[in-house]
Amino acid sequence: ADLAALRSALAGWYAARGRHGLPWRRTRDPYAVLVSEVMLQQTQVERVLPYYAGWLQRWPTFAALAAAAPADVITAWRGLGYNRRALALRAAAREVVDVHGGEFPWEPAALRKLPGVGPYTAAALRCFVRDESVPVLDTNIARVVARVAAGAALPRELPPKQLEAAAAALLPAQGARDHNLALMDLGALVCTARSPACGACPLAAGCRWQREGQPPPRAAAKPA
Ligand code: ADE
Repeated sequence: ADLAALRSALAGWYAARGRHGLPWRRTRDPYAVLVSEVMLQQTQVERVLPYYAGWLQRWPTFAALAAAAPADVITAWRGLGYNRRALALRAAAREVVDVHGGEFPWEPAALRKLPGVGPYTAAALRCFVRDESVPVLDTNIARVVARVAAGAALPRELPPKQLEAAAAALLPAQGARDHNLALMDLGALVCTARSPACGACPLAAGCRWQREGQPPPRAAAKPA
């Protein structure tokens, strides 16, 4: 398919239909973005929303969170699930303050060493804070890319390297942040796992899965 046409159809859809009001999309503060990404790791957007603003009010910076008592952090997290994420976030704040003097560590190895920051969260931070042109493969983006580029119903049918290469090929040289947020929203709102609304999809004309008649999931790829 014509990648430029796909990118531009996606951008048009996002401008009209994207979730631009989500509060973590209105900031480029690495602390605020990290808080949102850790909260969103295993919890739905609707459930995170009521916690996010209160958290930032109570602990607005890495320094504030680093100084918090672990028990208070766990209490404030109650309802989001997986308490260890809350403790990892506090540990990451301590590392930013104690090891990096309060400067957010963008150097790849240092970034990946922050507690709670795996490959997904590292890529999300680079893209959503700095607009770096990197693939961000959360579950929604991975599903859209698997369908559009590889004709697979679900991302687990593909080897991770292939999925990443497909997501990288689709990236624009400029504007990767909006591009990835658009893919995220398309996956959440249109290209859903169980009932994709291909009739409302801006990428339908260039989508391999659509073109091939929406084949059902095949066997998962063998682990690498
Ligand atoms: N915007 C930025 N990151 C997000 C995420 N993980 N889920 C939903 N919206 C987001």
